[in-house]
Amino acid sequence: MPAQTFALAAQDERHSSIIADQGSVTPVVLAAMEGAEDPRLREIMDAFVRHMHAFAREVRLTEEEFELGVDFLNRVGQATHDAHNEGILFSDAIGFSTLVCLLNNGRGGATETASALLGPFWRMNSPPTENGGSIVRSETPGPALFAACRVTDPEGRPLPAVEVDVWHASPVGFYENQDESQADMNLRGKFTTDADGRFWFRSVKPAGYPVPTDGPVGDLLRAQGRHPYRPAHLHVLAYKPGYKTLITQVFVDDDQYLETDVVFGVTQHLIGGYRRHDEGAPPQADVTPPWYSLEYTFVMEPGEAKLPKPPIK
Ligand SMILES: [Fe+2]
Repeated sequence: MPAQTFALAAQDERHSSIIADQGSVTPVVLAAMEGAEDPRLREIMDAFVRHMHAFAREVRLTEEEFELGVDFLNRVGQATHDAHNEGILFSDAIGFSTLVCLLNNGRGGATETASALLGPFWRMNSPPTENGGSIVRSETPGPALFAACRVTDPEGRPLPAVEVDVWHASPVGFYENQDESQADMNLRGKFTTDADGRFWFRSVKPAGYPVPTDGPVGDLLRAQGRHPYRPAHLHVLAYKPGYKTLITQVFVDDDQYLETDVVFGVTQHLIGGYRRHDEGAPPQADVTPPWYSLEYTFVMEPGEAKLPKPPIK
C-alpha cells in the first residue's frame, strides 16, 4: 500500500481511533478497517474482528491466557516446515477444516458430499501408474489391498480421463515422507480412469495413525484428554477439467477409531466397504490370505478444476 494511503486514512476525522472504554474498541476498529478496497477482505476482516472481540468478552480472557494463545500461534508457525504443516493440523483438530470443506461442497453444504479434508500429506507429482499396477514401491509388510474404483458425474454417467491421485499411510501408520524405511513416493500413485470411468490398483491395507503430537497441537490434545488417532483411510484427489476437483478419503470400516477421528473427517458417506478375504483363490499369485478388496464410486460435481496448494513438498 502506498504511504500516501496511510496518511489519508490517519487524517480522516470520522475514523478517530481514540478509545473511550472497552466497549468502544470494537466499533473503532471496525471503522478503521472500512476503507479496504476489496469488499470480500472488508467483509471477512469485519466478521473476524467482531467474533474475536466477542470471544474475548465471552470468556473474559486474562492477560496470561492472551499471552498463552499468542505463544500457541507462534509455535504453530515455528513447527511448520517443508515436510509438516502444523497450521493445517490445528484447523483439522478443531473441526475447522471439515467445516470449510462441507460449506463449500455438496451444493453449499445443503446435501451430502463426497468431499473430505485434503490433510497435510498430499504431494504433487505422484508417480503415474497403469491401471492394475501396484503403488507399493518398497518392501511394505501388511495384507494386500485390491481397490476397484469408479468415477461418475452426479447422474451416474462414467467420467473417463480423470486423473486420480491416491495416497495413504503404511500398515504401521506412516506416510512415506515420515518414514525413512519407505521408498520415495511409496503408497502414492496417479491413475487415469478408462472409458468406463474406472481405475484400479494394488496396495496394502492402510492403518490408522496418530497425528504428530510433538508440537503445540499435541499439547492441546493432551490438555483436552483427547487421543491423537485417525481411523485408517485412503486419500483420493480426482482432477478433470470441467469438474470441481474432488478431494476425499475413504475410511476403513472396521477401524477402532472410526467413531472418534481426531480431525473429524469421517462422514457416513465416506465409510468404505473393505472386504476381508480369508479363503478362495487370491487375485495374484504372490498374495497370501487374508487380503482385502475395496469397491468405491466417486462422484464429481460440475465446476472448476483446480489443484490445491500442496501442504508439503
Ligand atoms: Fe491421511
